[in-house]
Amino acid sequence: MTLGIIGAMVEEITPLLECFENHIKYDVGGNTYYEVTFGNHRIFIAYSKIGKVHAALSASVMILKFGCEQIIFSGVAGALSADLKVGDLVLGTKLCQYDVDISAFGHALGFIPESKLYMESSPILNKIAKDTAKAQGIMLKEGIIASGDCFIANSEKKQWIMEHFDAIAVEMEGAAVAVVCDSCKIPFCILRSISDSADGSADVSFDEFLESSAKRSADFVVNMCKQILQ
Ligand code: ADE
Repeated sequence: MTLGIIGAMVEEITPLLECFENHIKYDVGGNTYYEVTFGNHRIFIAYSKIGKVHAALSASVMILKFGCEQIIFSGVAGALSADLKVGDLVLGTKLCQYDVDISAFGHALGFIPESKLYMESSPILNKIAKDTAKAQGIMLKEGIIASGDCFIANSEKKQWIMEHFDAIAVEMEGAAVAVVCDSCKIPFCILRSISDSADGSADVSFDEFLESSAKRSADFVVNMCKQILQ
């Protein structure tokens, strides 16, 4: 099995790389991909840089160049649901792009013809995530994650995304990975730990909790890998 793990920022993959030794490095398309071995399996780890375009590039490279058969995204997100607080782990059951708008032609917000409004993540990987959480006594909240090329730090925008997409968390890459994986028929899973509440204090909260929340997500993903690759 060849597995790909993507983060957006270096902080999101550093805790992963610390868990594995002897990385082989490849520079492709402006990013570094780290290959590590896990028993008989190979894991490719990379951070894409922020945003949907970069995430789509990394997911494409993982699948089309390195032959990854499953992709996991690990990183941080802003909370939309009032139930979520900093450090909570979120599993994206469906992903959507809140910043797609071709409603001028009668399409629903977020919808692109010949594509889907909501991309469903892998039920098999999600079950592994839920089993991992259960085994560790960790609360894992499931729901729709909305992605777009904006850092949301405004209560009105946050409310708008929640109302239009029924999302519980917001970030800037998940739906892009979902589109690439869905197009290539590769199972994927999106895990995030909350770094902020996507409101007026999101920037301060993000800076304070990026590292700790990224580590929480990464540690969880390492435990998932143990189950997937055992
Ligand atoms: N990632 C973490 N927090 C975020 C926010 N508030 N908006 C977009 N992406 C995020």
